[in-house]
Amino acid sequence: MTFTAPAATATAVTVEKIGGRIGAVISGVRLGGDLDEATVAAIRAAALEHKVVFFRDQHHLDAESHEAFGRLLGEPVAHPTVPSADGRYAFPIDNEHGGRANQWHTDVTFVPAYPAFSILRAEVIPPYGGNTLWSNTAAAYAHLPEPLRVLADSLRGVHTNDYDYAATRPDASAAALERHLTVFTAIKFQTEHPVVRVHPETGERTLILGNFVQKLSGFNGRDSRALIDVLQSHIERPENTIRWQWRAGDVAIWDNRATQHYGADDSDAHERTLRRVTIDGDVPVGVDGRRSVLLAPESVPEPAHGIASGASTDGVVAQA
Ligand SMILES: [Fe+2]
Repeated sequence: MTFTAPAATATAVTVEKIGGRIGAVISGVRLGGDLDEATVAAIRAAALEHKVVFFRDQHHLDAESHEAFGRLLGEPVAHPTVPSADGRYAFPIDNEHGGRANQWHTDVTFVPAYPAFSILRAEVIPPYGGNTLWSNTAAAYAHLPEPLRVLADSLRGVHTNDYDYAATRPDASAAALERHLTVFTAIKFQTEHPVVRVHPETGERTLILGNFVQKLSGFNGRDSRALIDVLQSHIERPENTIRWQWRAGDVAIWDNRATQHYGADDSDAHERTLRRVTIDGDVPVGVDGRRSVLLAPESVPEPAHGIASGASTDGVVAQA
């Protein structure tokens, strides 16, 4: 489909679907903080519809203009535990920072109001490998057998950043493990989310699972793991996913409330550097109207820089 912005200076924004259930490439846009309203609205609508949208050749972007563009989609937020090195929101994801996220996850689900959108920009791309995969968690839910959908609607899951990193990443270096323990889990968060949330913009039902989910409330460990595995396996079905082969200058924007993603760790020791700006989200609401609850700590602390992802908890505090 084509959106044509009304302003005289606006360019035609073209949205080309590349997967049956997820993914589109947007062309005709030079991303930045100066985009007109109609173009921003078209980008937002495409991200909501296709869950992840890709832009090629955005070489002009730097940390500042990346962030300025992000502000057109919402409020940029800092990571709740990983400090920003340069006082900007553009969060580095590279080899050095152990940023190869080769586990299916939704960003920052260990806090209640986890980000609404993530905007990832490729700076240095390896000669092979290092692709990212995304899954549509609304499609995964919609294609569940009906009895499983009914079950999922009633479940709540506890998410934490304090998961067993060494067990899930047996190849991690000692430095990456140390960083995980001292930086990533400097504050140990636990948040209970509904397994199915009602998307605040589209009204779709989406699954909240992924790498940070620790257990299902009210189930023992074995039952929790079995049920999580069944639901997660539907998220990972190839029909629900798209795989992107990065080039330097690419930008991906995904609806973090309706996706999971996975960074394939198959580019050996080659450098891979991407920058992520995340946009504030709101507290999820389940099918029954119950909101997510922060279990620990008592509130999401202010980071050294800006406001934390998940800080907008609107008085949602620790409950027993
Ligand atoms: Fe991620």
